[in-house]
Amino acid sequence: MTDVETAHTDGASHGMRSNAELIGREDINDVAAVLAVVGRQETDGRHLVTDQCPAEFTWDYEKGARAKLDKLYEKAKKAQWNGQTDLPWDTEVDQEKVVLANAEANNDALRWSDTDVAGTVLEKWDEKDWLRFGIENQNWLLSQFMHGEQGALLCTAKIVETVPWIDAKYYAATQVMDEARHVEVFSKYLDEKLSGHYPLNGHLGLLLDDILADSRWDMTYLGMQIMVEGLALAAFGFIHAMTTEPLLKQLLRYVMADEARHVAFGVLSLQELYQELSASELRERQEFAFEAAIRMKDRMLMQEMWERLEVPPGDVLKIVSQAPERDDFQILLFSKIVPNLKKLGLLDAADGWLRGKFTEMGAIAFEHLSDSTEDADAFADGSPVERQVA
Ligand SMILES: [Fe+2]
Ligand SMILES: [Fe+2]
Repeated sequence: MTDVETAHTDGASHGMRSNAELIGREDINDVAAVLAVVGRQETDGRHLVTDQCPAEFTWDYEKGARAKLDKLYEKAKKAQWNGQTDLPWDTEVDQEKVVLANAEANNDALRWSDTDVAGTVLEKWDEKDWLRFGIENQNWLLSQFMHGEQGALLCTAKIVETVPWIDAKYYAATQVMDEARHVEVFSKYLDEKLSGHYPLNGHLGLLLDDILADSRWDMTYLGMQIMVEGLALAAFGFIHAMTTEPLLKQLLRYVMADEARHVAFGVLSLQELYQELSASELRERQEFAFEAAIRMKDRMLMQEMWERLEVPPGDVLKIVSQAPERDDFQILLFSKIVPNLKKLGLLDAADGWLRGKFTEMGAIAFEHLSDSTEDADAFADGSPVERQVA
């Protein structure tokens, strides 16, 4: 019996669960089912999750017993930056111009010329409607970043409580500060530079709830540091490369410097533990990683945005069911996750069940990329401001 089994009640001796049991539908590509889940904000403005995981004191205060975590902690203390004063908030952002400039810079017409919109309301959209689409797209995306960062803030505060090792508690404490700063800067950017907020995406919400409610401390790491933050790091990288807006570019670069460390923290912490887990315990981690991957893929359909644009669900279904190049882009977002799952032994445990799932999703080729324990950004000296990363 390992310490991660504490208070855990189900799944002691089951086989792999079906897609229906794990994600609520048998066919991963059942787009109508994915579109039917739309995020809504609670009317009283609060969302409560009951946390099942016991908080744990340790009486072993020996700093550096886990040398790599200790090194990461020392780096993290010097890597702090100030979201209020280190970013050029006086930059003027004209959202319409940015949307048009981004489209032009990326050879990516605002209008989806390669998508067949015949018979949908998009057929009648004029330039103004497409511009609104570009703007709402930004509002939606940055809103999801902000909510996801709050998820990371809560998850990492939970890790401070639940992880048994002092070096990990120390490191996690620095990440709590990082995440507070990330929520702060995305919120400020939305309020001051963009033109509207969206509620948390329904699929991402299901995932964050599952991560926070789980009774096993390592599941917080697996769900947040490996899966959610692994995907966020890739997504921030794309937006950073794509955007023509200098404030957002700088903001994302600073956030990415922190996220690289967070993902490395996840891999370094879980590596040790996963070597000791039984086959059935590893199977449960594989299933959780799979569920997380599907939830994150599902959220990319931007359900809340289509609703606000008043595009009927049948039309959305028609539009998002085509567009193979957007599918390729979605797969690229798993480029950080797959090598880390491999490093943790999760691709190949249980006869390669998870390897099979990522093969089906078309993302298995990323297994050959380097994992996050080798990420130079994670172990860099000094703050991104002093390093003048751009
Ligand atoms: Fe973050
Ligand atoms: Fe993070």
